[in-house]
Amino acid sequence: MLQEKKPKFGESNSRTATHRKGSFHQQRKTQNANLEISPHRAVSAVRLMRIEFGGAFADLLNEKGKGSGDNEMGYVERTLGFCTRDLDDRDLRLVTDIVGGTIRWRKYLDYLILSLCHDPNTFSRMEPLLLQILRIGFYEIVKLEVPSYAVVDENVQLAKISLRPGAGNMVNGILRKLVLLKETNSLPSPQVEGDDRAQARALATLHSHPVWMVRRWIKYLGREEAIKLMIWNNSDPSFSLRANRGKGFTRSKLVSRLETLKVPYELSPHLDDFIRISTGMQSVIQDGLLKQGLCSVQDESAGLVVSVVDPQPGETILDCCAAPGGKTLFMGACLNGQGMVTAIDINKGRLRILKETAKLQQLDNVITTVHTDLRTFPEVNCVTYDKVLLDAPCSGLGVLSKRADLRWNRKSEDMEELKSLQDELLDAASMLVKPGGVLVYSTCSIDPEENEERVAAFLLRHQEYSIDSAERYTSHEFLTEEGCYYFCSPVKNSLDGAFAARLIRGNGLL
Ligand SMILES: C[S@@+](CC[C@H](N)C(=O)[O-])C[C@H]1O[C@@H](n2cnc3c(N)ncnc32)[C@H](O)[C@@H]1O
Repeated sequence: MLQEKKPKFGESNSRTATHRKGSFHQQRKTQNANLEISPHRAVSAVRLMRIEFGGAFADLLNEKGKGSGDNEMGYVERTLGFCTRDLDDRDLRLVTDIVGGTIRWRKYLDYLILSLCHDPNTFSRMEPLLLQILRIGFYEIVKLEVPSYAVVDENVQLAKISLRPGAGNMVNGILRKLVLLKETNSLPSPQVEGDDRAQARALATLHSHPVWMVRRWIKYLGREEAIKLMIWNNSDPSFSLRANRGKGFTRSKLVSRLETLKVPYELSPHLDDFIRISTGMQSVIQDGLLKQGLCSVQDESAGLVVSVVDPQPGETILDCCAAPGGKTLFMGACLNGQGMVTAIDINKGRLRILKETAKLQQLDNVITTVHTDLRTFPEVNCVTYDKVLLDAPCSGLGVLSKRADLRWNRKSEDMEELKSLQDELLDAASMLVKPGGVLVYSTCSIDPEENEERVAAFLLRHQEYSIDSAERYTSHEFLTEEGCYYFCSPVKNSLDGAFAARLIRGNGLL
């Protein structure tokens, strides 16, 4: 919605405009399976191209039907023009690691690549696929510490076969320079010095984030916390699973399944239905636990927003910005078959996914969907609800560790646009709460302008509402300093960032 329009895969932009003769588009010719190419690098390169130019997402592997080797090999064949062997489980894991890491570290990797090019024009005119291959090689050598001989040989081979021999020679030259610098501990490094702006620029390169984010975090969190946050954003994301009680699948049943699958886990100390896993997601997917609706991938920080809503059997709940339905489904499961969650969203496709998942999770008896714009919904709907959750569209600045590409898509100008949308949505949601009922405003942002400031502005416009402290619904470690709101901090709580304010509508009696 607020994302920059990107050129389609292969469309011209400032970089693609300088494509030279022999680029992958012109060289499309299918060869026999080429076993000298490591298939995971070929797939990673193609996927990085799709993400940068085609708007795909780094977690594509986890999407329904998209994790099969056939699909991946289809990409490679269509775009690079050669067949290679199918991916096995280990390859799939490597693709996820390389793609996620290369996207996260893009700014830092480009700084290194530029530093090692003789001429800055070589970098600015580099064709996109060659740049992706170099980024992969740099990431593997500098961050993954893969043995350098393998990285050099295989990325050179990939450039030769997918582009042309000269491209392979260039990759060879630059990667060898990098290996030498790494071995002698003399990698270039931006100096954090000068005025605030210059320091923010250097930190942004070192920790690979946009400069505007670094400046914003230094302003709100201070320099040390901002650095800790960037380190968190660059670390491997961990995931949690929620056992779907709605389908009679308890956490202990989930635990036995994970033990059978030999997937290491930890019980969530905060939520009874949740467990944490740091590896083994592929096994969970392949076992069909998600497809059968027995559990969902959901961060505890999002689950804790549902704790702040505190859904009770028999209640009527409106989930205003519900799709794809993580919180709707959890709230539905909490109702134990009594009550109703009405899930509305402006996005028809995402709402359809929610509806299908509710059916799959056997929660369709307590979840109903309405495709509408929340801003106009109160004009056509005169029903009010016991509880209303507004999980507002936001910058997502709290979930950058999981959404590797988001930091590069978000622009500072988005913030103003988002804030006025959040105000409008809050005004609309407030009309749908029963007198005496509860309105919960939440985001997956850590930015005070999207969180506390929106609530403060709302309370000034709506004196019929007052704050109901979140302390009764969540533990002390998740409370803001004033103790009123739920706040999950990636740095402090080692979970995704999230915020929720619980507000009560007065019953009109004096
Ligand atoms: C943060 S996401 C919601 C995530 C969801 N609550 C969950 O837990 O899975 C925000 C949602 O707001 C929806 N949205 C944005 N503007 C809207 C509007 N005017 N009316 C209704 N939904 C809207 C988007 O389509 C998006 O699905």
